[in-house]
Amino acid sequence: MSELTTDMVVETCLSGVQVLQMNRPDKKNAITLEMYDNLALALQRAEQDDSIKVTLIHGANGEFSAGNDINEFLQVAQNPDKMSSALTFLQTLSGYKKPLVAGVEGRAVGVGATMLLHCDLVLSAREATFQFPFVPLGLVPEAASSYLLPKLVGYQKAFEVLILGDAFSGVEAQAMGLVNHLCDSGEAYEVALQYAQKLTNLPAEAVMLSKDLLKYRCQDDVQMALMREGRIFKDRLKSKEAREAFAAFLSRTRSMD
Ligand code: COA
Repeated sequence: MSELTTDMVVETCLSGVQVLQMNRPDKKNAITLEMYDNLALALQRAEQDDSIKVTLIHGANGEFSAGNDINEFLQVAQNPDKMSSALTFLQTLSGYKKPLVAGVEGRAVGVGATMLLHCDLVLSAREATFQFPFVPLGLVPEAASSYLLPKLVGYQKAFEVLILGDAFSGVEAQAMGLVNHLCDSGEAYEVALQYAQKLTNLPAEAVMLSKDLLKYRCQDDVQMALMREGRIFKDRLKSKEAREAFAAFLSRTRSMD
C-alpha cells in the first residue's frame, strides 16, 4: 500500500484500487479550485499507471461533498479563467477509462452529486442525501447533468430535482437509478471498496473495453453538454440572482459564528 497526501485530496493505493478522498471536513468537503486540480491530476496519473485498475472516490468524516466552494464561486465570477480547473476535472472524470466507484455518506450536493453521474458504481448509505441546488442558487446544471440526468431518470423527474433543487434520500436516489446499492450509515466506504476489489479481480482490458462500449455513443454529447453548460454557468456566476444567493448563504453561516 502506498500513500500520497495532498492535504485536501488524500490519495491511497490499495492493491490495484486508487482511493481518492475529498478531505475538507470543516467545510463538508466543499471542493476548491486546488482540489479540482489535484483530483484531475490524480485521475490522469492513475490512467497511465498499469498497477491501478479502479478508482474509488469518497469523502472524509461521514460526508461526501457539499459541492463547489461558494466563496470560490465569487472569485471565479471575477476571474472566469479559473473555471478551467472544474472543467478539466469534469472532462477527465467523464472520459476516465478505468472503472470509477463512489461511496456516499452524508451530503452529496451540487458537483458532489453530479460527479456521481460519471461513476460506474455508486454505493450509498440509505440516510445519505443528494441535492442539485443550482437553480435556487441562480445557476444552471453542470457536469453534463442537463444531458445525463433526463437520460437516467426521465424528463419530468430530472426537471423536478434539477429545477426545484430539493434534497432527496439515498433510498430515492436508488429508485431513480443514481445509486446501485444501499448500505447502513457508516459503511459506504467499506462496501464501495468491496465492489472496487471485485472489479480488480476481473480482466482489466476487458473491463476497460466494456466500459468504452457502454459509453462511447454518448461521449460526444457529454462533452458538448459540458461546454454548453460551462458557458452559461460562467455568465450566471456574475448574475444578480447568483450574487444574492451566494451572499445569503455566506451571511447565514457567518451570522452563526
Ligand atoms: N462552500 C463553502 N463553504 C461551505 C459549503 C460550500 N459549498 N458548504 C458548507 N460550507 C461551510 C459552511 O459555510 C460552514 O462553514 P463555517 O463553519 O466556517 O461557518 C461549514 O461548511 C459547515 O457547514 P454548515 O452549513 O454549518 O453545515 P450543515 O450541516 O448545517 O449543512 C450543507 C451542510 C451541505 C447542507 C450546507 O452547508 C449547504 O447547504 N452548503 C451549500 C451547498 C451548496 O449549495 N453547494 C453548491 C452547489 S452548486
